[in-house]
Amino acid sequence: MEKPFVLLLFEDCCVKMKQSKLMEKRIKMVTMNELIALCKNRGFIFAGSEIYGGLSNTWDYGPLGVELKNNIKRLWWKNFIEQEFNNVGLDSAILMNPTVWEASGHLANFTDPLMDCKACKTRIRADKLIEEWLFKNNKTVPFSIETLSNEEMEKFIDDNNIACPCCGKHDWTPIRQFNLMFKTFQGVTEEKKSEIYLRPETAAGIFVNFKNVLRSTRGKLPLGIGQIGKSFRNEITPGNFIFRVREFEQMELEFFCAPKESDDWFKYYRQKAFDFACNMGINKDLLRLRDHDKQELSHYSTATTDIEFNFPFGWAELWGIANRTNYDLTQHQKFSGQDLSYLDPYTNEKYIPYVIEPSVGVDRMLLTILCSAYTVEKLENGEERIVMKFLPKVAPIKVAILPLSNKLNDKAQEVYKQIAEQFRCEFDASGSIGKRYRRQDEIGTPYCVTVDFDTLEDEAVTVRDRDTMKQERIKLKDLIDYLSKKLA
Ligand code: GAP
Repeated sequence: MEKPFVLLLFEDCCVKMKQSKLMEKRIKMVTMNELIALCKNRGFIFAGSEIYGGLSNTWDYGPLGVELKNNIKRLWWKNFIEQEFNNVGLDSAILMNPTVWEASGHLANFTDPLMDCKACKTRIRADKLIEEWLFKNNKTVPFSIETLSNEEMEKFIDDNNIACPCCGKHDWTPIRQFNLMFKTFQGVTEEKKSEIYLRPETAAGIFVNFKNVLRSTRGKLPLGIGQIGKSFRNEITPGNFIFRVREFEQMELEFFCAPKESDDWFKYYRQKAFDFACNMGINKDLLRLRDHDKQELSHYSTATTDIEFNFPFGWAELWGIANRTNYDLTQHQKFSGQDLSYLDPYTNEKYIPYVIEPSVGVDRMLLTILCSAYTVEKLENGEERIVMKFLPKVAPIKVAILPLSNKLNDKAQEVYKQIAEQFRCEFDASGSIGKRYRRQDEIGTPYCVTVDFDTLEDEAVTVRDRDTMKQERIKLKDLIDYLSKKLA
């Protein structure tokens, strides 16, 4: 049985308290409202189209959010493409020939079970209604809700008298399936034959380019093709901030290999994805690997694991890793009429490659990093500070340059220019130095460099460490070396 979240936090808190005599530390379980407020106030994420009253469940990434997002994407690319001997990158189009979605099964099967409350007209996903009811009532069931048929879900909702979360009535329409793809029209005429779709995943762009990449890179299997890009799903119940949105980014790798090697590659990428998540500063105690049982597996998959994170609203999927067998290439071969098989040059064996797919959302990973980083510390003087404890490689801003007085702006700008060549930094000249430190703590800047009047004499600055709050005097000529070691 999972440890209760409160206990995990308590244990974490005890370890941290032992680590420091300077201050009492505690990890506070951030609520979604606290996180959203911090993200808005500090410039990570804003509500979409806000000055027009917003567009529900759309979010815009602000100056810090875009840095954080870029760091996540850069690190994924480095780990999954550049550092993997067999892997290459791709950037395929969002709009694709609609037959692609027939072949992939999205037109027929990419649906969610939808029901309406007859009393207040709220539209809701039946499976999510059940999951939330289980979570709120601290109940578990020995099966995955996703595997239930429409009839089974309706029965479960009726048996447990699950009410509408908006009006409290229990008066549901029967469940019907709703396709999640966004439809639009190509060209000037809005007719059936010009209908196209915004892609619901980036993977399809990789499958249709498998032969192009293999030929142009003179590649041999195993071969991984990865890409990062926007996907669109007309989710019925988006929500929980950026957890489930209709427009999001995915980082997907399709790793093509021989069928007999696919089990080993699945295990390899399952572990690699988990290690990557931990190395991004995501709290390991709030992560778990959940293998799909036979009942939950897609008909084409021989193994699937979800990496789940304990969000403030409960355990939910961060990352899916699947052995998709040769399903996708077989389908695209059938619908395109092109030969997508591979001839092994060493064994002369001809086969349709198996695919291992680790697939994760950038936005969802960003949310787990925000939840993990959010820390409240009680200081010696009784005050509290909020610190976003990002790892330096993930932090949106690595160094803040703070002139103690406006009279020192020129000197501080010189320092800024010197550091900006190496690290993403920020210049902050307004407010008391204490308030500026607090702001940098809240945006997770690992180091603050204060330029004071002595700097003009001794060519040295004060460097403050975000986590220990200790300060050191460093000569300007040694500053880059000092920061490079600290931020490595
Ligand atoms: N090609 C496989 C695929 O797309 P998926 O489980 O539907 O699989 C993969 O999506 C990942 O994309 C998820 O684990 C999640 O991180 C992210 N994701 C999926 N739907 C999302 C949504 N509506 N909002 C944000 N992220 C989403």
